[in-house]
Amino acid sequence: MSTAPRIDIDVAAFWHDPYPTLARLRRDAPIAFVPQLGSTLLCSREDIFVSEKQIDVFSSHQPQGLMNKLMGHNMMRKDGESHLNERKAIFPAISPKTVKAHWTARFQAHADRILDEFEPAGACDFVREFALPFSAECLKSITGLTNMRFEDMNAWSQGMIDGIANYVGDAATEARCHAATSGIDAAIDDMVPVLRNREDRSLLGVMLACGMPMDSVRANIKLAISGGQNEPRDAIAGAVWALLTHPAQLKLLTDGAVPWIQAFEEYARWISPIGMSPRRIAKPWTIRDVEFEPDERVFLMFGSANRDEKHFERAGEFDVRRDTGKSIAFGAGPHFCAGAWASRAMVADVGLPTVFARLRNLRLVDGEPVRIGGWAFRGLLNLPVAWNSAV
Ligand code: HEM
Repeated sequence: MSTAPRIDIDVAAFWHDPYPTLARLRRDAPIAFVPQLGSTLLCSREDIFVSEKQIDVFSSHQPQGLMNKLMGHNMMRKDGESHLNERKAIFPAISPKTVKAHWTARFQAHADRILDEFEPAGACDFVREFALPFSAECLKSITGLTNMRFEDMNAWSQGMIDGIANYVGDAATEARCHAATSGIDAAIDDMVPVLRNREDRSLLGVMLACGMPMDSVRANIKLAISGGQNEPRDAIAGAVWALLTHPAQLKLLTDGAVPWIQAFEEYARWISPIGMSPRRIAKPWTIRDVEFEPDERVFLMFGSANRDEKHFERAGEFDVRRDTGKSIAFGAGPHFCAGAWASRAMVADVGLPTVFARLRNLRLVDGEPVRIGGWAFRGLLNLPVAWNSAV
């Protein structure tokens, strides 16, 4: 265990709102051992920005980790050359060029179709009716698993996320994770003969085309599903909520004074969909007066770094005019999010402008509270809205 000061936290309160505790940690103990999480937390942007690049110390290779055991050995749990080889292999599917030329139009078609289905209703839970199916339909396209139902994409993503955070070893949670990975394996088995003999820009298509071993193909598809469903879902629902609760800033966007990408980047900084990423200490190491032991677990707290007062003025406030250049919502090292360009297209180029154009006078429903939660993954649980329907 590290020699970092020991700080106790109330895990339930941390789930409801992690930011007061993270601010206290940044102020009093930016590197702290938190027994309730069984890990040493790095909470300052500086320490995370430097450490995430030191892969010989802060290793992603966690052979005993739940992700490897339950989802197979994917690129996010590899370091160095073996990691970079797999990143290179998937790049043709998620590069800025492919996203612009190939995926954006498909994302737009998904958004238009989904809005056609519920727009006449005049009111809905925006998370359930738009954010969830839109994120899932886009992810079906990107992964190549167009044979899946969007409901399965969402449920299996959640099943894996719960499974890899199941440190208490709950049997039902583990069983749900196994059901999710078996469902994905079956969907892959169906699509391989379809995609193998044709040029295809999806993740499955490009990994098959470059001859990647099937174990790695399966593991990386499961990684994309576990890391590519909730995050865009939470980012688009969260950004809509942030703009509806900051009407002056929404007007800057609908007037075209500020680009939609600013709303996405600022939301992802303010409430980072991925608030934490784990690493294993690979050799004895010291940061200032804190000594780390090999094999201990460290949490890189992206959600805290993005509210670090040393780098962001009024860090706790949502402001679309802010320079978000220092945000590390997509990571700060070799594991920088492979889906970042696809997410920006999904949320900023398609989702937000289309929703605010199609749902006229979009507003929150009075009296129905909006619920939000999580610290490792943080997002809205519901978003009750109404609008002036066109019919
Ligand atoms: C708002 C949306 C998203 C956010 C905020 C987000 C955030 C992140 C972060 C913070 C990491 C780095 C984790 C680390 O350093 O350990 C990451 C990695 C990754 N993300 Fe995303 N992500 C998003 C959407 C997506 C989507 C849509 C996909 C799939 C197409 C995706 C695929 C991946 C993959 C494959 C990695 C691992 C990259 C590697 O290990 O080299 N992400 N993401």
